[in-house]
Amino acid sequence: MKLAMFDAKSYDIESFEKHSDGDFQIKFFETKLNEDTVKLAKGFDGVCIFVNDTANAEVIDALYETGVKFIALRCSGYNNVDVEHAYKKIHVFHVPAYSPYAVAEHTMAMLLTSVRRIHKAYNRTKDFNFSLNGLKGFDLHSKTMGVVGTGKIGKVFIDICNGFGMKVIAYDKYPAADSSINYVEQLDSLLRQSDIISFHCPLNEDSYHLINKESIEKLKKGVIILNTSRGAIIDSEALLEGIKDRKIGAACLDVYEEESDIFFNDYSGHIVNDDTLARLITMPNVLVTSHQAYLTEEALNNIAEITINNIKAFEDGKGCENELCYKCGRIENCKNQRDEKCF
Ligand code: NAI
Repeated sequence: MKLAMFDAKSYDIESFEKHSDGDFQIKFFETKLNEDTVKLAKGFDGVCIFVNDTANAEVIDALYETGVKFIALRCSGYNNVDVEHAYKKIHVFHVPAYSPYAVAEHTMAMLLTSVRRIHKAYNRTKDFNFSLNGLKGFDLHSKTMGVVGTGKIGKVFIDICNGFGMKVIAYDKYPAADSSINYVEQLDSLLRQSDIISFHCPLNEDSYHLINKESIEKLKKGVIILNTSRGAIIDSEALLEGIKDRKIGAACLDVYEEESDIFFNDYSGHIVNDDTLARLITMPNVLVTSHQAYLTEEALNNIAEITINNIKAFEDGKGCENELCYKCGRIENCKNQRDEKCF
C-alpha cells in the first residue's frame, strides 16, 4: 500500500510513523494537494489529506486518471472534498471523531484568554510591567452562551460551559433527541439572546456566512464570537466591520475563510497578502490561532490510528465504516441507511 501524504508536518510524520506498520509505504509531501501538485500522487494507491488541501472536481479527476483509489482525510470536516464528484471514481474516508475534547477545550482557552486578557498580561509581566490598567475582564458565570451545532464537539463545549455556571442555549439543524440541551427553534433567537456565540457546526450550504452583515445587526452589543469550526461560517469582512462599529466586543478565531494559503506556514518576516486578516490581527480584541484547536497528543494519535484503520479496512475489502457516501443523502450515515456502499 503506497500512500502520499500531503501538507505533512513534523507532528503528522511522527504520529503516522508510530502507528503504521510494514504494510505501509508513506511518502510525506510538505506541499498541499491542489490542481498544481496533484501530479505528485502518480504511482500511489491513495492520498492522505488535511483541512487545507483541495480535492475539488479537477483534482479528483486527475487523481482518478492517475490510478489513485482513495482519499483518506485525516480530519473530520470534508468541505474541501467534492464528495459528490468522487462518487464512482474515488473512495473518500474521514476521521469522524478523534478528540472532541481537544477542540472544545481550545475554544474555552481562547475565550478565557480573551475575556481575562491573559495574552496581554503574559507579555506585560515578561517585560516586568505589573500594571493592571486595561486588563479588566468579566465573569463568565451567568452569561448566556449560544452554541451553534451540538454534535460531538458542541456537546463537550456545552458541558464545559455548564461547569462555569453559564446559561447555555443551542441551535442545531438536527437537534439531538431526548437530550437535556436547551434548544432554541430559530438561529435568530440565539443570535439575539447570546452574550457569547460559539460555532461547532460543519461548513455547508446552510452554514456558509451565518455571521454576515444582516445577522450582525441582530447580535447583542458587545457579543463575543468564537469560531473553532470552519472559517467560511463567518463573513470576515462583515466581522471586521462589526468590530470597527463596536457592535462585536471580541472575536476568537481558530479558523479563517481564506486560511488555506496562510495557516500552518511561518510568514514572520514576510508581508501577508490578505488585508482582512492583517486588519483583524491588529485589533486588540481579536485573537487568532492557526487551526490549532485539534492539536493535542491524544488527537494526533487517534487521527493516525483511525486513518490507518480506515485504509486497512478498505484494502481488506470489508468496507470502511468511515467512508463518506454521497449516494445516501446524509453523507456520513451511509452504513445506517443502506446495505451496501456507494460503489
Ligand atoms: P458533528 O458532526 O459531531 O456535529 C456537527 C453538528 O452540527 C451536528 O449536530 C449537525 O446536526 C449540526 N449542523 C449541521 N449543519 C448545521 C447548520 N447549518 N446549522 C446548525 N447546526 C448544523 O461534528 P463535530 O465533530 O462536533 O465537529 C464540528 C465541526 O468542528 C467540524 O465540522 C469541523 O468543521 C470543526 N472542527 C474543527 C477543528 C479544529 O481544529 N479547529 C477540529 C475538528 C473539527
